[in-house]
Amino acid sequence: MALLSILNYPDKRLHKIAKPVEAVDDRIRKLVADMGETMYAAPGVGLAATQVDVHERVIVIDVSETHDQLMAFINPVILWSSDERKINEEGCLSVPGIYDSVERAERVRVRALNEKAETFEIDCDGLLAVCIQHEMDHLMGRVFVEYLSPLKQTRIKTKMKKLAHAM
Ligand code: NI
Repeated sequence: MALLSILNYPDKRLHKIAKPVEAVDDRIRKLVADMGETMYAAPGVGLAATQVDVHERVIVIDVSETHDQLMAFINPVILWSSDERKINEEGCLSVPGIYDSVERAERVRVRALNEKAETFEIDCDGLLAVCIQHEMDHLMGRVFVEYLSPLKQTRIKTKMKKLAHAM
């Protein structure tokens, strides 16, 4: 396994749209393993392939308290979203140190492939629902700060650029 480097907002590559995975093969399984390792090391609860500059529809998530329940979502689709919406505080490994409120569907049903190429469906609520919607946005080239006001986005961009220069 290997640690991958995570793109930082406002890197333009975070806005690329990911393509569907054509075959769940050893290359994809290695990507899932490496993304898992990278996410745990960060540490974070979710990571989209887009964030490691791989533009294919792959997400890893682990919202367990024990950090040993890695879930891979390959070619995920949202089958259903609740009308009920909820505001949650979100953060992102690509926008270190920034947390802000985002409104999303409270519950979603997702269909995806796992790393064995098996189709599964899962009803998500709570943190898992927030996380899957956040990560699926990444696959569409969207970072959570884009839900915030233009003023906040400008401030965050400035802060991130200063941070990049400091490193
Ligand atoms: Ni993120």
